[in-house]
Amino acid sequence: MQKRQSFKKTCKRLSLLMILLSILLTILLNFQQITAESINTDYTEIWSREQAQSFQLTKENTIPNIDLNFKLAARDLWIWDTWPLTKRDGSLAVVNGYKVIFALTAPRNVDWNKRHDVAVISYFYSQDGENWIYKGPAYNLEDALGSRQWAGSAMLDEDGKVQLFYTATGRKGEAVKTFEQRLVKTTFNISTDNNGVYISNWSKHQVILEADGIYYETMEQSKGSIIYSFRDPYFFRDPMTGKEYLLFEGNKGGNDQKLKSENIGDELFRKTHVVPPGSENFNGNIGIAVAENKDLTKFKLLPPLLEAAGVNQQLERPQIVFKGNQYYLFTISHRFTFAPGLNGPDGLYGFVGGSLHSKYKPLNGNALVVTNPDNDPYQTYSWYVVSGNSIISFINEYHDNGELRYGGTFAPTLRINLKGDKSEITEELKEGKVIS
Ligand code: FRU
Repeated sequence: MQKRQSFKKTCKRLSLLMILLSILLTILLNFQQITAESINTDYTEIWSREQAQSFQLTKENTIPNIDLNFKLAARDLWIWDTWPLTKRDGSLAVVNGYKVIFALTAPRNVDWNKRHDVAVISYFYSQDGENWIYKGPAYNLEDALGSRQWAGSAMLDEDGKVQLFYTATGRKGEAVKTFEQRLVKTTFNISTDNNGVYISNWSKHQVILEADGIYYETMEQSKGSIIYSFRDPYFFRDPMTGKEYLLFEGNKGGNDQKLKSENIGDELFRKTHVVPPGSENFNGNIGIAVAENKDLTKFKLLPPLLEAAGVNQQLERPQIVFKGNQYYLFTISHRFTFAPGLNGPDGLYGFVGGSLHSKYKPLNGNALVVTNPDNDPYQTYSWYVVSGNSIISFINEYHDNGELRYGGTFAPTLRINLKGDKSEITEELKEGKVIS
């Protein structure tokens, strides 16, 4: 009898222990999953052919026709891709009352389409964020890397130094211009007096990232008629983790460019959708590299945040804006860089997710955020989101009484409202207006 009772007790204890153990195991497994999710830096979201459909011009995404009486911000220059000096947290920097912007420029007497071959980064300053004074190149031309310099970003650090990240395209002194692209950094001091803004004391320009051929295509690997990309570095500090990153425009590396079914769409879509041959040569992505030191001179390439294989060859000038605890990922792209069979316009495209390496959802269904009016589809380009609530860009190829003209100056700024996975243009402001 006694034996039976003690056997019963042992059984009870054992089952209690088992229950406790299984609870513990579930907690442990869940914890592992949560931490794995939040540090998963391998995840690449896909912008599929199924998503990149049905682009429509609406009052929420379409800019009005530009006023043809716009003024040139610099009489003798073509001005295009523009970005403001920001603080480490991405907000606009104001240096003793002055706002500062950087832009790609070329002499206005160079043929419009040749401007990319002679591009330099110039800087401008303004007290009202509207009337910009051109100061000249942002570095000594002989110190810059590349045969020309393409877009980037600029961050004012806590020591008052500007950290300028840019694209070195080609090699200095090359006889024939190549399209090789490397990411470069220089830092410099910035000071002001009653007469304006001055920069000085540049550090040696240093290559900080090159395409690895694995995640990111090299010049040698690239196929198709549109140039490959490894350009447009954008500094971003993740407010959730404090980690620092560079985003950039890339293409899918490696020799296997076969599209995955996810690049096309779900099963139902794939049943009827025909992918035209050559679509695999359109393999743009939004690249990312994590900073490995405080000086921001060492970065490690990570798998892309987003890929558009079979969808688009160029996801240009990517940015992240952190708003309402959401990560808004933006990029600009052209009609001609969409893969065969897709019909997106020149525009600003955006995605939203709950963390940096997250499942990004296209804004407004197909990702289109801003585009030009139907009767002048190339009138502006290179939209850049400032502080999450306004957008600057430049006047590109527009029409005056049916005649094609080139702008090469700041376009009217737009106010934008981002709410969840929707966006809307709410107002048009003055040309080149930069607001916080
Ligand atoms: C976008 C862009 C950038 C590049 C620059 C070159 O307008 O293609 O990606 O840095 O122009 O001019």
